[in-house]
Amino acid sequence: MYGLIHRGLESMVTSQYGADIWKKILTNSDAGSDSFLTMRSYPDQITLSLISSASRELELSASECLEAFGEYWLLEFAPGNYNTLLESTGREPIEFLKNLDDLHDHISSAFTEFSPPSFVVDDVTEEIFFLHYRSSRKGLESFVVGLLKGLKKRFEVDIGIEVETREELEVGEHIVFKLTLPPSGRH
Ligand code: HEM
Repeated sequence: MYGLIHRGLESMVTSQYGADIWKKILTNSDAGSDSFLTMRSYPDQITLSLISSASRELELSASECLEAFGEYWLLEFAPGNYNTLLESTGREPIEFLKNLDDLHDHISSAFTEFSPPSFVVDDVTEEIFFLHYRSSRKGLESFVVGLLKGLKKRFEVDIGIEVETREELEVGEHIVFKLTLPPSGRH
């Protein structure tokens, strides 16, 4: 993935655990100190090796680590670096999720080797929504859960998050999340 993602992880670890812990994580991973150019795409293996080294060092499971990173990305890293883009994506969670593909599309001219995820929202009732997450990768479900938890906090809406179905694709996966909003959640 793009160096931008690696920088996000570095920023989470250094701000929450300190620079020395980050150095250890980097040393014990397959990533070199040259894996952090924001606009360069690196093999996903490098990203995964940083995540697994971080989870070993922080004594978290890989899924806890991905979830914490998703929440940090949404609440700290993206607002700190791309706030205008985030603000124009939506004023409430469902509008925001419906515009997420536009957000990634918007930056795809700068990120040329980009393989962003796709998010599609189906309205089931006024309060229940199915969120279809499709990725060319496997194993990022907990990252998405962390992003969704961040979204709850960003908009201060108590959304129920459950996995409805998981489907492996030839390349990547398709996960359907069932989101349950409180009756006044969109307003
Ligand atoms: C606001 C600024 C954002 C920027 C600049 C951004 C940029 C990126 C970039 C560069 C990647 C790596 C893709 C690759 O290397 O092929 C990525 C991946 C991803 N992004 Fe975003 N993103 C942003 C916000 C969001 C938000 C708000 C969400 C969801 C709530 C999101 C969900 C994801 C997911 C799940 C991936 C992992 C890739 C996958 O699932 O295959 N992003 N994004």
